[in-house]
This record gives sequence, structure tokens and C-alpha cells, in this order.
Amino acid sequence: MSKIVEKFTELYGRKPVVRSAAPGRLEILGNHTDYNQGFVLSCAVGQHTEFVLAPCEGRRCRMADFRDGSRVSFELDDIDTAKPRDWTNYIKGVIVELRKRGIEIGAFDGAILSSVPLSAGMSSSAALEIAAGFAFREVWNIDLPLADWARVGQGVENHYMGLKSGLLDQFSSIFGKRDSLILSDFRTVEVVKNVALPHGYVLAVINSMVKHNLVDSEYNTRRLDCEAATAKLVRRYPGATTLRDISTAQLEAAKEELTLMEYRRAKHVVGECERVMQGVAALEHHDIATFGRLLFESHQSSIDNFENSTPELDYLIELAQSLPGCIGARLSGGGFGGITIHLLKADAAEAYCRRIREGFRLKFNVNPEAIICDIGDGASAHRL
Ligand code: GLA
Repeated sequence: MSKIVEKFTELYGRKPVVRSAAPGRLEILGNHTDYNQGFVLSCAVGQHTEFVLAPCEGRRCRMADFRDGSRVSFELDDIDTAKPRDWTNYIKGVIVELRKRGIEIGAFDGAILSSVPLSAGMSSSAALEIAAGFAFREVWNIDLPLADWARVGQGVENHYMGLKSGLLDQFSSIFGKRDSLILSDFRTVEVVKNVALPHGYVLAVINSMVKHNLVDSEYNTRRLDCEAATAKLVRRYPGATTLRDISTAQLEAAKEELTLMEYRRAKHVVGECERVMQGVAALEHHDIATFGRLLFESHQSSIDNFENSTPELDYLIELAQSLPGCIGARLSGGGFGGITIHLLKADAAEAYCRRIREGFRLKFNVNPEAIICDIGDGASAHRL
């Protein structure tokens, strides 16, 4: 019996009927491109959130988090708005989003157990939303296309939590493929292809330990900046509808029509879309050095253009450039804190992680978490 099933049975005195699991994700290349209908290269990680539940009578739901022992309950008729500092918001938000689609679920006893680091930039919230959604799907036979489950999770963030995020996190948690990066198109909302990382290389996450709570960050402001730039560019270039349709050459030609800030934000997104495609081509030609260079360029663009980096993230990338074994590195996810990803030679990875942690500790007096990641499959659920 798995640990979560055992603990559930001990707590509620009966067995759960379903177990789901949804992974965290890493954004490999393609920063802030998803809500501009652009491309992203991402993967699901081995770290995941498990969700088990058993339906019950009435309208009251009970949830337990076996990571810290916390327990929260809520009434199905009193979940219209999020409550401050309540991790079940991500579960209640899923129920609310399903209701908007005409789908009702019943009361349940549930529990979660997760290995996805919290508020780090590995999408712990998307993992929880998708784990909850997939468990509900099994128990209440909900028939939604897979991409719509990503939209349900995005709806939780956009409407329930107030973060105007794109689809990347939930989409990667659903569609991730073991040992593969996925190239996603957020216009058609589909996986274009799976792209293998060459043998002998691994991805490591180094957490800057600056908590990134994107709701309180400038994430939403950046999205507005992109919209302002888009409005001007689509007027100039009929046929274009989002930044994804604009090339660097077109952006340069229109520079005078944008404010400096709009230009910079657009330059980041347009550059990222181009880098994603160049990165995929590089991997397909086994040109890992070019791929690594693109990761460093992406980070530099975050510094110069999108201004979503921090001194801690920048220092990790500076260290990455000076240590042996690193092919490329960049901030990953929304930014404003959280994690960096590092593409490493597998045989140098352990020593590299040790050295970068030491270097960071010397400067900031903080021990950064380092995780050498497995690339895992997307979410799943099954009846027990
Ligand atoms: C966060 C958001 C995503 C995406 C990234 C930046 O992870 O949730 O939708 O916008 O930031 O690429």
C-alpha cells in the first residue's frame, strides 16, 4: 500500500477510491511566451503531487496535507471566493471552474502528499490543481478534453487566485513525457513534438530561495505591458494578432512607435519565441553548445528586457558561467525569485551542485536547494 493510501486509511477509517498524481514542471526555454500564444519548451519533473479521495454524503469536504499534517474542511456551498492563506483554494478553485462548465461534484474526504517544492517556480499549484481535477474526473466520470483540464487549472489561477498566468504550468503537468522535453504551441494549445535531451546531460534546479509568490509580483503588470505592445504592433502589421506573429526584424522596424518599456517587453517575448525554435533545431542537430548558449541568452534578456530577474537569480547564472560542467542556465518560470535551471554534463553534476551551493552561500548566507531532476510523465489517475 502506498504511503498516502495508508495514511488516508488511518485518518478517515476507510480506503480512498482513487489516487491521482500530477508532476511539477520546468520551463526550459520560452519565458512569458505562453500568454502571448507563443512556443515553449518544457518538461514535467519526477517531483509530483498525489491526491486521494473517497466520496461522502452531504456537502462538507475534508482535506488533509500529509506533508505538514494540516487539515482543512469546507462546504461545497461556500467556496465562491478564495480564503487568505488556504492551500485548499487550489482545490476549491477547480470545483468552481468545473461548475462554470456545468459540472458538479459531490462531497469527499481527501488528502494530498507532494514532493514539489512550494513557491519555488516548479508549479506546485498547477500540480495540485491537476491532481485534484484528475481525481474528480475518475470519481465523477467527467468527460473533458485533456487541454480543457489545463484551462480549468488556468481558470483557477486567473479568476480564483488573481494571477493572469498562461497555460504552460498545467499543460506541462498533463502532457509531460518521460525523458523528453515537449515543444508546445499555445496558439493551437497542443504539443507540437517531443524533443529528447541528448544522453550524458541532466537538468538541475538551483533554488534562489527567494520565495516567488507571483500574485504579489509584477507578473500581471508584465502581461499588461505585453498587451500594450501587442496593440500597437498588430495595428502596424495586419495579419498579426499576438507577439508570436512578430519577428525581431519587424519589431526593430516598429521601435519608434513603442515606448521603451513596451519595446523591451516585446523584445523579450519575440526573442524567446525565436530562441525556442532555434533551441529545438540545435537539439535535433545534437548541437548542445548552441542550446546552452540560448539558455544564457534567455536569462540575459530577462535582465535587460523583461526585468523579471533578481540579484540572487543573476548570481546563480554568473556562477554557472564560471563553473565546469555547465552548458547553459537561466531563470525558469515567472521570475521575480524562485528557481534557475542548469543544463549539466551528467558526470559533473554532483560536484557542480556542491560548488554552486557553496558559492551562493558565501555571498548571500543562504543555502540554496539543488535538485538534479528526472524528466517524468504527465499526470495520471486510477481507481483503487
Ligand atoms: C508562470 C506562469 C506561466 C508562464 C510562466 C512564464 O509559470 O504560470 O503561465 O507565463 O510563468 O513563462
